[in-house]
Amino acid sequence: MKILVCTDGSEQSIKAVKKAASTAEHLEDASVTLIHVYYLDTAIISPHADGYVTGEILQRIDGEKKEEGKKKLVEAAKIFEEKNIKVNTLLTKGHPATTIIEEAKKGKYDLVVIGSRGLGGLKKLLLGSVSNAVAQEVESTVMIVK
Ligand SMILES: Nc1ncnc2c1ncn2[C@@H]1O[C@H](COP(=O)(O)OP(=O)(O)OP(=O)(O)O)[C@@H](O)[C@H]1O
Ligand SMILES: [Mg+2]
Repeated sequence: MKILVCTDGSEQSIKAVKKAASTAEHLEDASVTLIHVYYLDTAIISPHADGYVTGEILQRIDGEKKEEGKKKLVEAAKIFEEKNIKVNTLLTKGHPATTIIEEAKKGKYDLVVIGSRGLGGLKKLLLGSVSNAVAQEVESTVMIVK
């Protein structure tokens, strides 16, 4: 059974990772891939006085996001490794929802595990934009962990 587990490092996504691990533990043929998608939120990049963001700044932020993402994947992978479950990690740059949906389709996963909410601020809705888009568009079974 091919399982794709999505993590943004949030509390809710760690809960999803734990649920995925306790599910995979009981399967003989589980093949788990952990995905984290990093992106450059240009709204938080303060531009130079002339309004332009230099390539150098973008490159530095890109590097930082990539490093942060790697750490999140290592942390989440530990949860599987502690249970002796083999896990692959996937660090991709792009739009989180689109990238996860593409990977879920391309990789022909049987199950996608995702947290209901993530790092976003507004908690009024049950689902965040990523979990909502993934639940709507992915053809595999989706497990949304609350
Ligand atoms: N960049 C990402 N890479 C991998 N998985 C992600 C990413 N962002 C979110 N997820 C997954 O989606 C789940 C729900 O997060 P989502 O981003 O939809 O909610 P939110 O952050 O609360 O809201 P929003 O992002 O819409 O403000 C997370 O628990 C995580 O499993
Ligand atoms: Mg989010």
